[in-house]
Amino acid sequence: MANTILVGAQWGDEGKGKIIDVLTANADVVVRSQGGNNAGHTVIHRGTKYILHLIPSGILRRGKVCVIGNGVVIDPIALAGEIDGLRKFGIKIDRNLLISDCAHLVMPYHRVLDEQRELRKGHAKIGTTKRGIGPAYGDKAARTGLRMSDLMQPVLFSKKLEAKIRENNSILQALGAPAISYREVNESYLAAGRKLQPFVANTVVYLHRALQRGKEILFEGAQGTFLDIDHGTYPYVTSSNTTAGGACTGSGVPPHRMDRVLGVMKAYATRVGEGPLPTEDQGLAEMLHKMGREFGAVTGRARRCGWFDAVAARYATMINGIDELAITNLDGLDQVDSIKVCVAYRLNGKRLQVPPCDATQLDNCEPVYEEFPGWNQSTHSARKLSQLPLAARNYAKCISKLAGARLSIVSVGPERGETIII
Ligand code: IMP
Ligand code: MG
Repeated sequence: MANTILVGAQWGDEGKGKIIDVLTANADVVVRSQGGNNAGHTVIHRGTKYILHLIPSGILRRGKVCVIGNGVVIDPIALAGEIDGLRKFGIKIDRNLLISDCAHLVMPYHRVLDEQRELRKGHAKIGTTKRGIGPAYGDKAARTGLRMSDLMQPVLFSKKLEAKIRENNSILQALGAPAISYREVNESYLAAGRKLQPFVANTVVYLHRALQRGKEILFEGAQGTFLDIDHGTYPYVTSSNTTAGGACTGSGVPPHRMDRVLGVMKAYATRVGEGPLPTEDQGLAEMLHKMGREFGAVTGRARRCGWFDAVAARYATMINGIDELAITNLDGLDQVDSIKVCVAYRLNGKRLQVPPCDATQLDNCEPVYEEFPGWNQSTHSARKLSQLPLAARNYAKCISKLAGARLSIVSVGPERGETIII
């Protein structure tokens, strides 16, 4: 496997966790380069369900080194908890996890500010995961953030923290929110810092040494293309670059060392949180929810669902430079008689082939659909493309063609084995 960037090519929750888990078999190092514990990557192995938030999904395979890069924002208490949780499952995390010393910290005031801003927005809320991600990246951009390297220096950290808490308490007070206790945060963060200390390193240097030794690296994207701070449906986005470029800036690995980009798309569309989803369809959502599918891994929220959006898919292929496509959740459509695919948008009498930049305009776009016959039978047991019902095979091929990328993986169930590799 060459150095591969894996990106979500829709609105997140494309089933990246499972595909990463499958690809990790052929990688040496797995890297997270953006986002924080707003992510929820679900991996089901031998009947056990693991939900990873900050640690790359590669941790579930023995002998793989997992790196949390400089572009990730880390809630140290959540990360320490995730490490403990994995250890309880018997997963070894001693020599195979590295955390960038340059990664920014998510602080308790970020979480409260995230909540308060959402509350104040009322109907215009973003529907964030309330994990403090936006305010943490805000502090990073404003050059007032605290980083992992600060946490590794307790005296310095406490001093910086005191000033940050004082500043943020005055903001919280003005918002009518309770103040945060410096003493409690200082104690709990330093305790988490001690747990994380063995893993903290200059991950840029580690990754470059790994490249020199010919190691193969898998960059694990979190969230999805249309949640990208630059290219997504702003302001209904997350606060990081979820597209392929984020893998470079968020890890310190230069663009010319990246060999391929693999995009992950569901066979339909889902979105959790607010913001435009042009192909949203209540009937499809009801059916998927009845099947027990499409509930958020982080917040448990029922995801909004819609038909496959080929306009968005083509745009995602372009921005990310997607060479290969993994189509997931094909089995979610096993019981649909007629499947719609959006091939263009209609806005004010005009036909659009590209999503408009403005979220309100995108919200007003009417999808132009083509219909595909369903297959009305289970696809779970297919292990080769030829074992899929003809209609399912045609559907997967057609949507990859519309997306403009080569189909290389089809997922027909959550287990590692329920995968067709082409
Ligand atoms: P935030 O990242 O918590 O600020 O949330 C911003 C938007 O991104 C909201 O619509 C969230 O629901 C969405 N979001 C954040 N992380 C994920 C994810 O891992 N999967 C799907 N949606 C996400
Ligand atoms: Mg998820």
